[in-house]
Amino acid sequence: MRITVLGAAAGGGFPQWNCNCANCAGVRAGTLRAEPRTQSSIFIRPDNSDDGVLFNASPDILEQIRANPALQPGRTLRDTAIAGVVLMDGQVDHTTGLFMLRERDAPLPLWCTDPVFEDLSLGNPVLRVLGHFCGVQRTRIPLDGSAFEVSGVAGLQFRALPLQSKAPPYSPHREQPVAGDNIGISVTDSRSGKTLFYAPGLGAIEPAVFEAMASADCVMVDGTFWTDDEMVGLGISAKTARSIGHLPQSGPGGMVEWLGKLPARTRRMLIHINNTNPILDADSSQRDALTRERVEVCEDRQEIVL
Ligand code: MLT
Ligand code: MN
Ligand code: ZN
Repeated sequence: MRITVLGAAAGGGFPQWNCNCANCAGVRAGTLRAEPRTQSSIFIRPDNSDDGVLFNASPDILEQIRANPALQPGRTLRDTAIAGVVLMDGQVDHTTGLFMLRERDAPLPLWCTDPVFEDLSLGNPVLRVLGHFCGVQRTRIPLDGSAFEVSGVAGLQFRALPLQSKAPPYSPHREQPVAGDNIGISVTDSRSGKTLFYAPGLGAIEPAVFEAMASADCVMVDGTFWTDDEMVGLGISAKTARSIGHLPQSGPGGMVEWLGKLPARTRRMLIHINNTNPILDADSSQRDALTRERVEVCEDRQEIVL
């Protein structure tokens, strides 16, 4: 399978429109060794196919499609390589791009869990609005670990795992989590036998999560914050990483420590990186620490073949 990183940044992107933190100001001014990034999304297709699956629909989707011409193969008057959309949660940065896909003549094939379907029908009724355009053809993502497939994308199997993270701020269960608010997905290519574990929002590594990570050839996991109090320290917000469902990378029990426990062969990648995170700066000591641990920082337009 071929995995394309469409967007490697967390909500707000990098630089964020209204932010003048050292990272955002530095990347704008060109004084920081860092690449701008759009909001978190990946595209996966089998090796022998143009068509694939879009994971999350970021508000930057139109820019991402323009930046990745393979997503628009141009086989017919109206065309797309997006055979279906799989949602990892109902967060604004992962779902509002659905509005941008409305000019279709057939309903958009969409996979999401029941709580995400409810949030996108009631709290933030994207799907009801889309009903006035192309509409969606929704399939429920099972949470019992059984495999599902996306029609038009042969040879890839998907398995979801409920995660401890957070429902979106607009959700009635933001503070009363239910299984399926956030999921991780293992994608297995039946031809190569390789597996990706993808979890852009991950608040805690429970045993089943670590098991899924350890049985993958590549993990692409939550890279939002370096420290728990990153935004507090900058005076940007009172919210800690953990309080909004993101496990920080540094320190005891942090993501880097967990990644260090994976088998040596596992490729380790961070995605959904907040604009405040020092790892965005290629010259930072935090990036050095990741490099020493063989942890990569995803970039837009990066391709991974598994
Ligand atoms: C998150 O990942 O915590 C959210 O996407 C934050 C947001 O809505 O911007
Ligand atoms: Mn997010
Ligand atoms: Zn910033």
